[in-house]
Amino acid sequence: MAKKYSLLSNVYFLGAFATIGGMLFGFDISSMSGVVGTERYQNYFNHPSSSLQGGIVAAMAAGSFFGALLAGPLGDNISRKRTIMLAASIWIVGSIIQCASVNVGMLVVGRVINGVAVGLASMMVPIYQAEIAPKNIRGRIVSLQQWAITWGILIQYFIQYGCSFIDSNAAFRIPWGIQVVPGMILLVGTFFFPYSPRWLADKGRWDEALEVLANLRANGDKNDPAVQAEYKEIEDAVNFDRTLAARSYLELFRRPAVRRVFLGMSLQSWSQLTGMNVAMYYIVFIFQGAGIKGQNATLQASSIQYVLNVLMTIPAILFIDRWGRRPVLLIGSTFMALWLFLIGGLMGRFGSPIISDNQTTTWAIQGNDPASHAVIACSYLFVCSFAISWGPVSWTYPAEIYPMRIRSKAVSLSTASNWAFNFALAYAVPPLLESIQYRTYFIFAAFCVAMTVHVFFMFPETKGRTLEEMDELFNSDIPAWKTHSQPVSHLDRDIEELKLNQEHSRHSQLDNNGKNPDDLVHPHDSTVPPHGTDNMGQVPDEKTEVEHVPGEKTEF
Ligand code: BGC
Repeated sequence: MAKKYSLLSNVYFLGAFATIGGMLFGFDISSMSGVVGTERYQNYFNHPSSSLQGGIVAAMAAGSFFGALLAGPLGDNISRKRTIMLAASIWIVGSIIQCASVNVGMLVVGRVINGVAVGLASMMVPIYQAEIAPKNIRGRIVSLQQWAITWGILIQYFIQYGCSFIDSNAAFRIPWGIQVVPGMILLVGTFFFPYSPRWLADKGRWDEALEVLANLRANGDKNDPAVQAEYKEIEDAVNFDRTLAARSYLELFRRPAVRRVFLGMSLQSWSQLTGMNVAMYYIVFIFQGAGIKGQNATLQASSIQYVLNVLMTIPAILFIDRWGRRPVLLIGSTFMALWLFLIGGLMGRFGSPIISDNQTTTWAIQGNDPASHAVIACSYLFVCSFAISWGPVSWTYPAEIYPMRIRSKAVSLSTASNWAFNFALAYAVPPLLESIQYRTYFIFAAFCVAMTVHVFFMFPETKGRTLEEMDELFNSDIPAWKTHSQPVSHLDRDIEELKLNQEHSRHSQLDNNGKNPDDLVHPHDSTVPPHGTDNMGQVPDEKTEVEHVPGEKTEF
């Protein structure tokens, strides 16, 4: 069979391109930070009061919350691919409205629309990535989404800074208008993308599912053992799903689904409760508290943390599939707790209250350079610790733990949890910093300790398993802290067996009549055994960490 190679069947290319959706997310996070301080913006929008400004900022997170919820049913019904295209189209409309805003009302409408787009994309891109990626690089591919978020934050921040020197309304119109460009690229590019093979299978479009899988895994060779085995695994899972009752949101809150749904939602909520967005949104306050003065100095200090955020996501992309999810989460939150305790402790010990002209009290370190530098260093280390751990894993884990029948809806709930806490913290942090000052950092440090404990006891290791193998992991009685990566999965064994079978039949056919042994074996009528069994339907002796009973998949 002629083998073909195309960029559109390269998982890295597809996964990386789809992350433009994550870039929109990043643009969203920093879309106000560099504009809000400019005179042009303030004059044009009549110096919005702080609560009105808070509303303008939060409008986007609110839109994202609803977008993420909407993405659940959309992802199932119109497909992952078309949902991403829809997100890109909505983003373009929202950006045009924002860019053309003539008053606060129009600006808020534009931001809500952009928010909906980000909610859709931030939920759908990781699912698409997880569904096209082979298990051994799934963590890496989904982590690209986090990398794109960090790039989006950085790029938008610098565009806004650059435009702040323009002496016209272009100072804020350009940064918002330019957002159309990634939206267009995403829309046009995704049009040529394949559908997720798992979504196709779920819709009964088996031939297309096989074709896409063959393109993704073996340059179009449908006979390749890896393609055949994975296809069979998907087929088993989809057929099993069909034997269950109708899918509904209610199912998510019943046993046994509820445990995993809770894990996904709490992981995303915890990722916000690390306090990372205090650094992303309000880094200026942290640095002011550390005693940095002047706009330029603050800008420089802030830009360093955005750059570190981008750089420190790279090790996660490279090694997450080797390190595993649990160690990364546990070490990440332990270190974040440490840096936050240190920031709070240093500020409390060396800082003092400062009463400004308008009678508001802030807390800052003054005239103590070593203490100031230590606070700044700790906040950089905090950002690095998040970037290498919770940032990527908070997207990877929810995208991989659910079975197909509830994946879209369940991931949409976990992403919506991210946005709900994002929204709440964006509002709560400024008043907290004003009223309890440096103690705010202790609260986030305490959250980091709590999430470490939660992960240790409740989150099983998912590294090395296919999406279809998650059921037995979560249905097993093995406590989370005793789960390890699966060194040899059912899929690996099936592939090996298929290779042997194909080799064997090739030899015997050559011996018999020299017939071409490469005739297509369609997995529907193939001899691929159910996973976990050998050719005779027997369970091989080989010891695996989680017992699998052939043909008797535990419900869900
Ligand atoms: C979080 C965002 C955060 C970003 C920072 C993401 O994983 O969901 O809220 O701003 O990381 O890099």
